[in-house]
Amino acid sequence: MKNHMFLTYPLICFLFLSSFVYGQLDYKYYDTTCPNLIKIVRNGVWSAISNDTRMPASLLRLHFHDCFVNGCDGSILLDDTSTFTGEKNAFPNRNSARGYEVIDAIKANVEKACPSTVSCTDILTLAAREAIYLTRGPFWSVCLGRRDSLTASQNAANDQLPSPFEPLVNITAKFVSKGLDVKDVVVL
Ligand SMILES: *[C@@H]1O[C@H](CO)[C@@H](O)[C@H](O)[C@H]1NC(C)=O
Ligand SMILES: *[C@@H]1O[C@H](CO)[C@@H](O)[C@H](O)[C@H]1NC(C)=O
Repeated sequence: MKNHMFLTYPLICFLFLSSFVYGQLDYKYYDTTCPNLIKIVRNGVWSAISNDTRMPASLLRLHFHDCFVNGCDGSILLDDTSTFTGEKNAFPNRNSARGYEVIDAIKANVEKACPSTVSCTDILTLAAREAIYLTRGPFWSVCLGRRDSLTASQNAANDQLPSPFEPLVNITAKFVSKGLDVKDVVVL
């Protein structure tokens, strides 16, 4: 979408979920193309939290479940289509993943400010960070420039996401396979 940005900012960033990152991301990725992005996301998250105190946990979980299945690519946000059955209705997500409407509302505001610029997975990644930070959790810097997937797989979500019915050793192994550790198991 914005390949020339890679030439301007050839930095490779490391972050909280760095193991999910395959491309070259950048803290300043949208600085010139969508300078108010963080403010828009923060306002949207704040209004969602003001209405629903569960929302920070829900947004962090939505981000985690997006990233855990084939990387942070927004695939969890995709509805089923005639050509694929996606992640939304996989067992670990059906009737438990929340916050889709919060991301939709923020995306609508981002589109008004900067049309066709910011990926949905970057919005979800920022929203999770803002949600935790605004509720006095830790702050982490977020590299940006992720691309959205055009497809999603229910089977991949069922296979890859940890389940509460698995033994801890299996859950931990799944986290380790994504470059995460036991602390991440506890947090997430
Ligand atoms: C407020 O939160 C409730 C769930 O707790 C939800 O059903 C409702 O749509 C939310 N309202 C707004 C304006 O976001
Ligand atoms: C746990 O992992 C082992 C080894 O990969 C596997 O054989 C077993 O079926 C897993 N258990 C569950 C409940 O998923």
